[in-house]
Amino acid sequence: MSEEFTNAAYSNWVSTKFIVIPLSMGVLFLGLTLVWPGFAILAVLCLLAGVYFVYARNAFSPRGGNIQPKLWKVVLDRLDWNGKGEALDIGCGNGPLTIALAQRHPDAHVIGIDTWGKAWDYSKAVCERNAEDAGVAERTGFQKASASDLPFEDGTFDAAISNFVFHDVSDTKDKRALVQEALRVVKKGGKFAFHDYFAVKVMYGELNELLETIKDWGIAEVSFLDTSTCDFIPSALKLPFMLGNISIIYGTK
Ligand SMILES: C[S@@+](CC[C@H](N)C(=O)[O-])C[C@H]1O[C@@H](n2cnc3c(N)ncnc32)[C@H](O)[C@@H]1O
Repeated sequence: MSEEFTNAAYSNWVSTKFIVIPLSMGVLFLGLTLVWPGFAILAVLCLLAGVYFVYARNAFSPRGGNIQPKLWKVVLDRLDWNGKGEALDIGCGNGPLTIALAQRHPDAHVIGIDTWGKAWDYSKAVCERNAEDAGVAERTGFQKASASDLPFEDGTFDAAISNFVFHDVSDTKDKRALVQEALRVVKKGGKFAFHDYFAVKVMYGELNELLETIKDWGIAEVSFLDTSTCDFIPSALKLPFMLGNISIIYGTK
């Protein structure tokens, strides 16, 4: 299944700016050691950060460790959906999950939404091109919208999916409200799978309490999967700000 994701136009989660900025600063600080040797410490830290992100970018890439496609597959596999009807991909980026869902379910229609802000190298035009290349353009649609205020009626979708988006949303601080908003647009009995930093207390509060709260919203079944323990994730990527705290919440509304 991960062979579906070899298209380079899906882009790498580790943007080149994470490499260029620390490496440039490292070189700058290295030069400044001529003025004051103490700058050597900053130079080393920046260069190490740059090298780390070169490693991480390669590990995520289909041409390197292929971790990004493997994680997409893990999320898709948690969505226990029969593919009848319409699905929503919240924060679709360049469309990998929207497109893969449509490929996996030949009768399904899948909508991807995103704000496509400046922070990421993603766009609606690239999503549409990727869908065309994958042969699913007629069964996919992409629209600009925020995860915090989805422009859909309650219970519109038979399934919803989201990968590494809620932590990135800046127009609301309440991460649980994003989960609730995502579930609002799912039909009763519909399926969902959301991947994010759900076990990070400062984002979502206590994990058990989060799961109980989701059930209290009337969700029939909710399960938790600690994806940071996936055996294809190397230890060096298990830092807290990378893949050290990732998990999926999935189930049936
Ligand atoms: C790490 S990327 C993940 C993209 C995609 N889901 C994937 O797996 O490749 C985070 C995504 O969240 C999107 N995003 C950030 N804030 C958003 C918001 N308020 N509503 C919808 N998407 C948002 C970004 O534009 C970006 O595409």
